[in-house]
Amino acid sequence: MTAHSITVRLETKDQNLRKSFEAIIRSIEGFVVLGSDTAGRADLLIFELGGDEPERDFQAVNALLNSDEVSEVFYVGQQSDPAVLLRAIQSGAREFFIQPINEDEVRGALERLQKRWKPKGEEEVPEPGKVGQIIDVIGSKGGTGTTTVAVNLAVSLAQDKRAPSVSLVDMNLLFGEIPLFLGIQPSYHWGEITANISRLDATFLKNILSCDPSGVCVLSSPARLDRKLSSTPEIMERLLKVMCSMFDFVIVDGGQSLDSTALKILQMADRVIVVSILSVPCLSNTNKLLRSFDDLGYPPRQNIHVIINRYLRDADISMEDAETAIDHKIFQRIVNDYRATISAINKGQALVRLEPKAAISKDFKELASTFLQAGTTSQKETKREDRKKGAKWWQLRK
Ligand SMILES: Nc1ncnc2c1ncn2[C@@H]1O[C@H](COP(=O)(O)OP(=O)(O)O)[C@@H](O)[C@H]1O
Ligand SMILES: [Mg+2]
Repeated sequence: MTAHSITVRLETKDQNLRKSFEAIIRSIEGFVVLGSDTAGRADLLIFELGGDEPERDFQAVNALLNSDEVSEVFYVGQQSDPAVLLRAIQSGAREFFIQPINEDEVRGALERLQKRWKPKGEEEVPEPGKVGQIIDVIGSKGGTGTTTVAVNLAVSLAQDKRAPSVSLVDMNLLFGEIPLFLGIQPSYHWGEITANISRLDATFLKNILSCDPSGVCVLSSPARLDRKLSSTPEIMERLLKVMCSMFDFVIVDGGQSLDSTALKILQMADRVIVVSILSVPCLSNTNKLLRSFDDLGYPPRQNIHVIINRYLRDADISMEDAETAIDHKIFQRIVNDYRATISAINKGQALVRLEPKAAISKDFKELASTFLQAGTTSQKETKREDRKKGAKWWQLRK
């Protein structure tokens, strides 16, 4: 039970709709519906959209939230158009009901709100859903094949017979290329959700991800620079936690960025793939990266997997030389095949789908199967236990 009753204001034009909401709310202990002429603040506003100027409604409700006249808002509308849903979330909505309203859905939303509002220390430990692994793919130099590795690893995982659910997050602000590599045209990118990240949940995220034919769900990056669209470590943490509850694997194309958001992702990642090639400058960069990680204290060495991309058997530098140079074991090599990789990119199809039998595709599949084997139940259980014991990560969702 919450310490006080949760007050609800109903702003509906349709009297029957109001009555339906009142009946549901009154059947749950701990809520009070305010009379339509009662002034003052309310804990929850349930607002019916449907006027000629929805944008005005969104702005008005947003102003109420910002001035703390209401703490939370649920919208009720006639349609489930993702654009309207997105706008609703941007203006601060926690829930969106489609008419005719479904009693169980409304009841569930109210009960969730009640849980959110429990005094500190009384929260129930949520039953964790999926506990996905975050694999952060970063390049030790531009053009080493970071996006190629991230995309083909993701598609290889999704195509495996164990059928894990896989998502791909593009962190290359402005220069994100994942949609081009996969031939998809996402309607939304992560910049649009950052403004209201605290209200983000799996239902909302599902509506804005774009999936490729292999089932990989992509969260692309903003294609223009805008301060409103930039991410912060807190935003990325929230986003990745929701994604981990939805997918078995969350693959991040981290590019070459090492800003504070990129560092947060490195900190959260279960595994970090550092893409390198057998060249002196690239191995030198890889060495610097690994030493910097040692200094930072994360990611731990055993979670760092250095991959040699564009591997040529007769290269000047041997794999042993490379290992000595970076003082770290090479995890795997991906053979050089420029024709196949560039042709896949130009056709907008993942290489492992376009040329599944090519040697390079076999390398990507081998990489995927290593991660599939490593993501054992016991590892997931440990992660779940850790979460239950210590971090209380769900409290960060506030
Ligand atoms: N294993 C490979 N063999 C040959 N060419 C590759 C390989 N991997 C990537 N490339 C090529 O390297 C270029 C850069 O790849 P990309 O994945 O965009 O790198 P990054 O994301 O690090 O900038 C592309 O033209 C791609 O075709
Ligand atoms: Mg790239």
